[in-house]
Amino acid sequence: SLQFAVFGHPIAHSLSPQIHQAFAQQFGIALDYRTIDAAPEAFAGDVQHFFADAAARGANVTLPHKSAAFALAQEHSRAATRAGTANVLTRLADGRLTAHNTDGDALVRDLTDRHGLDLRGHDTLLLGAGGAARAVAWSLFEAGVQTLTIVNRSPEAADALADAIGEPARVHTRYWEDLAGIGSFDLIVNATSAGTLGQALTLPFSLVGSRAVCYDLGYGKAAFGFLAWARAAQALHAYDGLGMLVEQAADAFEVWHGKRPDTEPVYQSLRVHGA
Ligand code: ATR
Repeated sequence: SLQFAVFGHPIAHSLSPQIHQAFAQQFGIALDYRTIDAAPEAFAGDVQHFFADAAARGANVTLPHKSAAFALAQEHSRAATRAGTANVLTRLADGRLTAHNTDGDALVRDLTDRHGLDLRGHDTLLLGAGGAARAVAWSLFEAGVQTLTIVNRSPEAADALADAIGEPARVHTRYWEDLAGIGSFDLIVNATSAGTLGQALTLPFSLVGSRAVCYDLGYGKAAFGFLAWARAAQALHAYDGLGMLVEQAADAFEVWHGKRPDTEPVYQSLRVHGA
């Protein structure tokens, strides 16, 4: 059967194999989807080795390889080019690799379709300006958020991201040190890797508007600290990135199989049976 994989480091607890198998079952497709733990220095070679198998069609890529995945590919989707990172690698018929980044669209679909948000009119705070933040910033902007304020510990990266979007009337940056004095937001997206690294973020409650939605791109343990903060600050909703994970998988599945899976039963089952 066709071969798929997710590359990461660590990767043992990835939910991607389960998600892709559940999607495949919806269409009666048989596929092999495995996890490949690749140390950074081994990533490029491991990807080449994987795609050397004629049955290999595509791979997902997660931390810490999303930039390296982008660099490995010969063709890049618009979203991948803007982010400079890729979470999906697909082999074309001629053997070349295409890089996609489906994270931004996945976040917007999770917020709007699953959680029912109307992003227009939302003053949005994006925490972080690394690969994950770059992947979602354009999608949030294009989904029509009223303003997008990007705040990063190192201000240069936030400025570079805002400049790249180039819409100064709606997209601007502030300093991390000034978080306590920049008012409140309707949507706060945590795109830092602090939770994944086991580091605490110290954020003022004043950021959380009275009907604010707080969203962490991570899930499980990585999202715990930010979501606990959001609840303590009485955010209206605090969501983790499990829905985004399922949605980005659905986009990869569609690229590879040309079919759109139903994400909701898969999301619900992960929610209930542990993620
Ligand atoms: P990812 O692919 O997860 O985005 P990344 O590209 O290394 O990983 O980016 C990590 C992001 O998390 C950066 O915005 C980083 O801020 P800096 O650019 O200042 O390094 C942010 N980050 C990581 N740990 C953090 C912490 N403890 N506090 C605040 N921001 C943090």
